[in-house]
Amino acid sequence: MGKIRQYDGEGIRVTYDAERCIHAAECVHGLPDVFDPNRKPWIEAGAAPAEDLAAVIRRCPTGALAYERLDGGPEETQAPANELRVVQDGPVYATGDLILLDAEHTEIGRDTRVAFCRCGASENKPYCDGRHTETGFEDPGVIGTPTVRPPGDEDSTHLTVRLRADGPLVLEGRFTIVASDGGTAEGAAGALCRCGASKNKPFCDGTHREIDFEANDPTAV
Ligand code: SF4
Ligand code: FES
Repeated sequence: MGKIRQYDGEGIRVTYDAERCIHAAECVHGLPDVFDPNRKPWIEAGAAPAEDLAAVIRRCPTGALAYERLDGGPEETQAPANELRVVQDGPVYATGDLILLDAEHTEIGRDTRVAFCRCGASENKPYCDGRHTETGFEDPGVIGTPTVRPPGDEDSTHLTVRLRADGPLVLEGRFTIVASDGGTAEGAAGALCRCGASKNKPFCDGTHREIDFEANDPTAV
């Protein structure tokens, strides 16, 4: 995890993790007076009411931006369902109640919004750092042959995402995958490719072993 910067406004504290920002610019378009990449500091948290800031921050798809209310206002709650939105030539945007586990099944984070690298080139895995653009990663982002276990009678609402060592993202818990063409697949367990080489994206097909994929994932401390 990168260095997290903090900006206090009227009744709200904004945090920003630069290493997780891929300049999707939802923030800049949403509140240009607050988020101005040409200014230093680029976040002026006092330039808008806390409620407006919170609404825009919740649209940051990577989780680079987060907030804490200092005025008793509502904190961010997770989306009612776990969703994995596959971006053409880019990452997978996950939203919901997300629990990140290392390869040993130890929790290393809990989040509501995460952009997961799927090209294999990020230097901040498992997070996307925008390198898919430099490397020319190409994938239409449609659903191949689904290799997920269909939902049953699970009653947990969270989704665990385990970083298999030098392998895929292993999903456990109810989720919906939404493809770039609007196609969907529902599941309760599955494995998403993050080496960039699967022939059945977004699912893992085992190719990571053939290419000796190295993930260099974070582990619990
Ligand atoms: S919305 Fe999030 S990912 Fe996009 S530019 Fe702002 S902070 Fe970065
Ligand atoms: S992680 Fe890419 S094929 Fe398994």
